[in-house]
Amino acid sequence: MAETNRQWQTRQDGLDKVTKTSSAIPKPGDGEVLVRIKAVSLNYRDTEVVMGLYNHHKTVDGESSNDLVPCSDMCGEIAAIGPNVTAWKNGDRVLSTFIPSHQTGQIKEHHMASGMGLPLEGVLQDYRVFPATGIVKAPDYLSDEEASCLPIAAVTAWMAINGMRPLGQSGGKGETVLVQGTGGVSISGLQIAKASGATTIVTSSSDEKLKRAKELGADHVINYRTNPDWEQAVMEITKGNGADIIFEVGGAKTLRKSFDCVTFGGLINSIGYVTGKTDDPEGDLTNINVLALRKTVTLKGIINGPRDRFEEMCDFYAQHRINPLVDRVFGFDEAAKAFKFLYSGSHFGKVVVRVAP
Ligand SMILES: NC(=O)c1ccc[n+]([C@@H]2O[C@H](COP(=O)([O-])OP(=O)(O)OC[C@H]3O[C@@H](n4cnc5c(N)ncnc54)[C@H](OP(=O)(O)O)[C@@H]3O)[C@@H](O)[C@H]2O)c1
Repeated sequence: MAETNRQWQTRQDGLDKVTKTSSAIPKPGDGEVLVRIKAVSLNYRDTEVVMGLYNHHKTVDGESSNDLVPCSDMCGEIAAIGPNVTAWKNGDRVLSTFIPSHQTGQIKEHHMASGMGLPLEGVLQDYRVFPATGIVKAPDYLSDEEASCLPIAAVTAWMAINGMRPLGQSGGKGETVLVQGTGGVSISGLQIAKASGATTIVTSSSDEKLKRAKELGADHVINYRTNPDWEQAVMEITKGNGADIIFEVGGAKTLRKSFDCVTFGGLINSIGYVTGKTDDPEGDLTNINVLALRKTVTLKGIINGPRDRFEEMCDFYAQHRINPLVDRVFGFDEAAKAFKFLYSGSHFGKVVVRVAP
């Protein structure tokens, strides 16, 4: 085992200000395991945390002056086991869960206090102690880099498609799934939806990315830059019916359009806010109650998913041999560059930092 624990830290004061440091390797306590971290995937949230902008959950609004190890998603190997742990052994390959205390069912406010990479220390380091119940087995067929992409992006996508169905009854066949953009959550959504037998529609600002989405199996693609009325294009593609399930990633500038291209009885998953967290003055959401009732739409807020749904999803991934789309892998020393690359939005799918050499 190495002598020290290399780690990146942020004071939540800017992408330029992340620093590399080191600490002693922690020891697992009762019911805990020590994990040697191999690969970390980045999420949009991590860039927000680093910039001090992750402020829409009151229980995780971190102290900006405190040093924090950022990031939540990792694949690693168990390096030591604390007392009273029977579920794991040294060498097991495992994945973090975003909110380790959220084991099943509806997430509650108290769960948020266990969020990785804010408010709790994250995974952009060599070693971290985890509760034995806060990790899941990594699918054997995936590389460390691929497997590290599952905790936030894939689980959120899984919940967007299946969260309203009971555990063990995943679906999607015969449904039309619309994903906005080609980032981590949306490309995971495309892969899961395709494997489920759904018809898929992908929007993007880039024709090049849409070409890649087609290669991944997207049935229909729309460039939302050159076609700002993309919701009408969705209605044409679906012959006037609209999409059954929408990944609402944009927020302020896209939500109204999602209401306009969802089907009767459809589901809009409120996932992200990449176009802003405050209402767009031209967005016309004043009658959101009418927007919901006129087509009996469900607008469902999503915060990732519980551990049992993560395990259900891993079985589905293994059954369908889905490989998460890793766009680029950075070295541990290049983590600062990796955050900036993700924030630039030039990626397709996921961005990963390799931690172990
Ligand atoms: N609620 C949850 O549990 C949860 C979980 C994960 C993520 N999120 C949120 O979901 C969002 C996406 O996260 P991520 O990690 O997938 O981000 P990401 O990998 O950085 O991807 C963001 C993507 O958004 C797309 N985009 C930007 N403007 C858009 C617009 N006007 N219309 C449609 N798409 C647009 C871009 O796609 P193109 O480059 O193709 O245009 C970009 O690649 C973030 O707001 C994040 O905080 C929430």
